[in-house]
Amino acid sequence: MPRVETTVFPRREREEDRRKEREHRKLLDEFFDHSTLLAISRLVNQGQFDALDFPISTGKEGGVFRASRGEEFRAVKVYRIGNTVFRRLPPYALEELRREASVRNFGGLVIAWTRREHTVLGRLTDAGVRCPRPYGHYRNVLVMEFVGTAEGAAPRLQDAAIDDPGALYEELVREIGTMTRTARLVHGDLSPYNTLAFDGKIVLIDVAQAVSVDHPEARRLLERDVTNFARFLGRAGHPVEPAEFLAAVGGDRLGDDPRAG
Ligand SMILES: Nc1ncnc2c1ncn2[C@@H]1O[C@H](COP(=O)(O)OP(=O)(O)O)[C@@H](O)[C@H]1O
Ligand SMILES: [Mg+2]
Repeated sequence: MPRVETTVFPRREREEDRRKEREHRKLLDEFFDHSTLLAISRLVNQGQFDALDFPISTGKEGGVFRASRGEEFRAVKVYRIGNTVFRRLPPYALEELRREASVRNFGGLVIAWTRREHTVLGRLTDAGVRCPRPYGHYRNVLVMEFVGTAEGAAPRLQDAAIDDPGALYEELVREIGTMTRTARLVHGDLSPYNTLAFDGKIVLIDVAQAVSVDHPEARRLLERDVTNFARFLGRAGHPVEPAEFLAAVGGDRLGDDPRAG
């Protein structure tokens, strides 16, 4: 008697199915180790979300998934435990994180890193910067506002059509300026890859590495952030001098007390 699958599906579909299954397996192996699954079930029990729907993005350092909560959507970022990101972190960031977390092992660092992203998103939200609102975190899993619609996640600026690069510049100045002056933070990894285009505006994401404006590296990092974007704006047809951009976001007076003169 022929096997059921042979009868039901033609050969090509079965192969496609197997390929999907292999990808699915790989994803499960890479992200959902035992302790991550426990963290997810804990967040589900807390009512943070009901289910993970599908991956929005999977990378070396982790994955971002769309999740459902009733009729709403949320975004769930899973950092990979035992992850290599910390080997590549600049020494200043690693030092700060170690001090903050008082941990030596990578697992502990990943957890501290997840908490840090949650904290930074909270500070940015409070300051009025457009970023995903943080909803919760547990171990290496962060739950935040989903940026997108029922049709899917918002595209990265890198992949979006830029209709008005002049308006984009104004918007960047406003968001980065609010970040430095009100939240008193420098993003440190800002680029068209870590900025989403949503609803005709921008949303800043991927903020775990942000540093205080008082940090000795803050100015250098801010300079790098605006230089990245100046290049992008130039290609999009709106050339801007990095020095002017830097001054417009408060880079000349970084770390000054905002209440003083
Ligand atoms: N809150 C969110 N809503 C919708 N999509 C998101 C959200 N956060 C991240 N993404 C998507 O996931 C990708 C990876 O997220 P990111 O925070 O940049 O992590 P990393 O670069 O460390 O992998 C982003 O480029 C974006 O496409
Ligand atoms: Mg990113």
